[in-house]
Amino acid sequence: MPIRIEFVADDGQRREVEATEGRSVMWAAVDNGVDGILADCGGCMTCATCHVIVPPEWAERLPPRSSDEEAMLEMTAAPREAGSRLSCQLVVTPELHGLTLRLPPTQY
Ligand code: FES
Repeated sequence: MPIRIEFVADDGQRREVEATEGRSVMWAAVDNGVDGILADCGGCMTCATCHVIVPPEWAERLPPRSSDEEAMLEMTAAPREAGSRLSCQLVVTPELHGLTLRLPPTQY
């Protein structure tokens, strides 16, 4: 069964993509040309331009942030929110099917 993840831009535009199990959510966005995910570092966790906001109902279904992710989330261009995550640190699993992520107003 395809794993589908939806990205909602700051202007409300929605984009649903098919994600590959075992790859990161960041690559699901980049591979499908989703605007609003820059991912300048390619997933090395040094850029914080893959910032996404996870809705509260999904937050507990995702693995917790590592201390490195916590630290990088202080570097995001848009202010960090309660549900902020780095999408390069979220590995796609079948359980993520139906996940909706909000994109911040800016990544730089
Ligand atoms: Fe650079 Fe996620 S892609 S921190």
